[in-house]
Amino acid sequence: MSFKSNVVIVTGASSGIGAATAVQFAKEGASLVIVGRNEARLKDIAAKCAAVGSAPLVVRADVSNDDDARRIISETIKKFGKLDVLINNAGVLEYGTILNGKILKSYDKNISINLRAVIHMTMLAAPYLVKTKGNIVNVSSVLGQFHIMPMVNAYATSKAGLDHFTRGSAKELAASGVRVNAVSPGPVETNMLMTFESSEDTQEVNTPLGRVSQPAEVADLILFMASDKAKAITGSVFLADNGVILG
Ligand SMILES: NC(=O)c1ccc[n+]([C@@H]2O[C@H](COP(=O)([O-])OP(=O)(O)OC[C@H]3O[C@@H](n4cnc5c(N)ncnc54)[C@H](OP(=O)(O)O)[C@@H]3O)[C@@H](O)[C@H]2O)c1
Repeated sequence: MSFKSNVVIVTGASSGIGAATAVQFAKEGASLVIVGRNEARLKDIAAKCAAVGSAPLVVRADVSNDDDARRIISETIKKFGKLDVLINNAGVLEYGTILNGKILKSYDKNISINLRAVIHMTMLAAPYLVKTKGNIVNVSSVLGQFHIMPMVNAYATSKAGLDHFTRGSAKELAASGVRVNAVSPGPVETNMLMTFESSEDTQEVNTPLGRVSQPAEVADLILFMASDKAKAITGSVFLADNGVILG
């Protein structure tokens, strides 16, 4: 699965799934653009990428800020002249329920980063992806298809919207030769899961397979979806959830 002549953007590359994905793309020879807000963590991941491939372009940006989103694409094109793959991975998990009165605040934050920013990045990247017949992989969640608890209702809603947007984008962009897919993990050992498990608002995560995934497992699936091996796959929302959806 070589990405040697490919320019790849990974958002949310400063930790967890995005960081593992960036390192895997670097190993496969991609020209990488890594995006996040935390400068120190981005530097650390850039060094890890450089150790196995070429040094990435680091863009410190908030994907939910419209000017920042435009800058991610313009800096990519300025440096590399093209774009082949966009990985929309940046995401947050903000709690809130109807009865605790925090659902609207939680909805606004989850939607702005997990869904609106993906829609904006897709719109900005699409003209370049059409030129290269490239593709997009969105990082969704099994919770887009399955409710586990009220606290994460708005997060789940943002991911359900992301799943449907993935299918809609795939349908619109197919005629231009651009594929769009989503990968939907269950629990993955990252900062997001640690915060979730340590919160008094939530409950312990159990899965039918009795395990949680490592970020590199999800990265493997993302690279497969972005590769030519998946040339027949578009509009797919691919679960890698250790069986969570089985209930
Ligand atoms: N871990 C799980 O169990 C799990 C399960 C299903 C789906 N997911 C999804 O996987 C994706 C990655 O999450 P993770 O588990 O790897 O969590 P993580 O370790 O907390 O990473 C989240 C990443 O998103 C970035 N980010 C958040 N808001 C951003 C913003 N406004 N602009 C730019 N970057 C932003 C963070 O970077 P900065 O802090 O540097 O901005 C960080 O790099 C998310 O979309 C999440 O919903 C995770």
